[in-house]
Amino acid sequence: MTGRLADKTAIVTGGASGVGKATCRLFAEEGAKVIVADVQFEKALAFAEECGGEARLLDVSREEQWRELADHCLEEYGKLDILVNCAGIGRAGDFESLTAEDWNAMVGVNLNGVFFGCKHCVTAMRKSGAKGSIVNVSSVAGLVGGEDIAGYSATKGGVTMLTKSVALATAKYGIRCNSIHPTYVDSEMLDDVAERFPSRQAMLDGMASLVPLGRVAKPIDIAQAILFLASEESSMITGSPLLVDGGQLAGLPSRHNG
Ligand SMILES: NC(=O)c1ccc[n+]([C@@H]2O[C@H](COP(=O)([O-])OP(=O)(O)OC[C@H]3O[C@@H](n4cnc5c(N)ncnc54)[C@H](O)[C@@H]3O)[C@@H](O)[C@H]2O)c1
Repeated sequence: MTGRLADKTAIVTGGASGVGKATCRLFAEEGAKVIVADVQFEKALAFAEECGGEARLLDVSREEQWRELADHCLEEYGKLDILVNCAGIGRAGDFESLTAEDWNAMVGVNLNGVFFGCKHCVTAMRKSGAKGSIVNVSSVAGLVGGEDIAGYSATKGGVTMLTKSVALATAKYGIRCNSIHPTYVDSEMLDDVAERFPSRQAMLDGMASLVPLGRVAKPIDIAQAILFLASEESSMITGSPLLVDGGQLAGLPSRHNG
């Protein structure tokens, strides 16, 4: 299928890597004008040239940069239809060992970044009369806790709830807002984690053993679900958490068969 996002303008944060990158590529293939927004500008620029989008330097934790980006979008494209809040960072640590610096960094990017993005992009969508769609990338860790990822889980849980409040507040304008909850995704985000294992493959095998479908996700697995929520195929869905977790949160593993 092609043209599912024909005539749409989309901002994708974290668009230079992993899930965001796969999403930008898919959106462009489906006919959208894509703004690849990332704090890693050189990577965003190189990729934007490849996928036919526009690169923008954006630190999602800085509200003034969001205001500028939303204004630019209206000036350049006349409207904003889709926002994907995909930028995110992870810092491991249980709640006793986690430093204030790491906690604040995750709150700044994962939670404040999504708040600023929703706020300024809803304003832009309303100004241009677009019946927009916002997709916030949370995590399975935004639905359940994680012993050694206390701060990450707290910020992603915040995204889950913020999504519902935004959905309720914007439904009257025809704007939708949903969250995506991936299991482990084989992306650069796992590079630091891999260093604590004998090999990257050993880390991935261990993670896959916790997923009923038997593998970790690829960025395209998540991008396909984001495309569905961004497109008009999901026009009756808002305030909804969509799990893309290979069954990880469906229930308890079997312990009753010898
Ligand atoms: N990889 C996983 O296992 C996994 C699992 C569940 C959810 N997620 C979530 O998926 C999303 C995408 O992660 P990924 O796996 O593609 O990771 P990634 O590290 O490959 O990509 C993250 C991107 O976000 C950008 N970014 C970081 N801080 C930023 C900032 N302040 N402003 C703008 N951009 C910034 C990075 O430059 C990078 O391009 C994140 O929100 C992450 O929390 C990832």
